[in-house]
Amino acid sequence: MKALILVGGFGTRLRPLTLSFPKPLVEFANKPMILHQIEALKAVGVTEVVLAINYQPEVMLNFLKEFETKLGITITCSQETEPLGTAGPLALARDKLIDESGEPFFVLNSDVISEYPFKEMIEFHKAHGGEASIMVTKVDEPSKYGVVMMEESTGQVDKFVEKPKLFVGNKINAGIYLLNPSVLDRIELRPTSIEKEVFPKIAAEKKLYAMVLPGFWMDIGQPRDYITGLRLYLDSLRKKASMKLAAGSHIVGNVLVHETAKIGEGCLIGPDVAIGPGCVVESGVRLSRCTVMRGVRIKKHACVSSSIIGWHSTVGQWARVENMTILGEDVHVCDEIYSNGGVVLPHKEIKSSILKPEIVM
Ligand code: GDD
Ligand code: MG
Repeated sequence: MKALILVGGFGTRLRPLTLSFPKPLVEFANKPMILHQIEALKAVGVTEVVLAINYQPEVMLNFLKEFETKLGITITCSQETEPLGTAGPLALARDKLIDESGEPFFVLNSDVISEYPFKEMIEFHKAHGGEASIMVTKVDEPSKYGVVMMEESTGQVDKFVEKPKLFVGNKINAGIYLLNPSVLDRIELRPTSIEKEVFPKIAAEKKLYAMVLPGFWMDIGQPRDYITGLRLYLDSLRKKASMKLAAGSHIVGNVLVHETAKIGEGCLIGPDVAIGPGCVVESGVRLSRCTVMRGVRIKKHACVSSSIIGWHSTVGQWARVENMTILGEDVHVCDEIYSNGGVVLPHKEIKSSILKPEIVM
């Protein structure tokens, strides 16, 4: 089987992290977002993944080369010269997606995290006999997503409305599709949206089916959702593979610590924390609901909560970093500084406190 991942877009909502790496390469729970997806695809028998991309394909391919051999999967790029939206890239990659087998192929938004129940999806797709399957999930705030109205018993979709202004339902498109090759005949090679132009038509012909996604789901393309997504992911890890989580008297709730990270005396860590490779957390540090990327140093008695600390940054002694503070790569927060929601661009030194949420350039 084949799969296409929609990688394009500049990831502006996840800046300043995406100033250093394309969004799919930003780590989530100590692993680049896209690797969570590629590994899950491989596990259900996908042999070739096409990355639909509109900038910096070299960066992605160089990075993923190592995993091609490790995972035994072919990864190729299909590069757009202009952004083709969420459907156009499928037309562009047509030849890569179709083969003599006539099998359906997966399409994924690159920023969605879940347990990726692909196996269940394949069974669902085979059983309904329609043209396309999509995963849906329930959310509290459906207006920022594609909303799906469906028949509960069969899953047949009556209507697909992208980002509705008025409330039409709370089941939303999770950004995970399984499509028959015939769907490609519906898509022209031009900038076009699968949500606005393709799905509504297939739904009108009663050939679009939706399956309610078992387990958790999150679009982690924005900092707040990224932090919530980590909590959901770690909850699920607790149920499925709790030995991967840290244990000890200094740990509260679900915490992921890379084996090469060092944790000092008298720290209190958790809940919902991921600490990346090579990090040094000095003594007496308090961390909760945060991600600490590769190579970070958190100095003595600092306190970090609800924040993301970018690669190779440092947080000074007794500093306090909270409320959706996002530090880009190589940022240095001086001793005793307070950051309340500061969004700091890469390579900065923070010498005075950030008292309210703002961007520091
Ligand atoms: N190759 C390519 N080219 N990819 C693109 C382009 C493009 O021009 N534009 C967007 N993408 C990719 C993004 O990188 C992302 O992986 C995916 O397409 C969806 O785009 P987003 O910008 O993240 O859309 P969204 O989050 O507002 O809405 C989408 O996702 C929701 C679920 O998270 C829609 O599919 C909604 O219906 C859905 O509910
Ligand atoms: Mg998104």
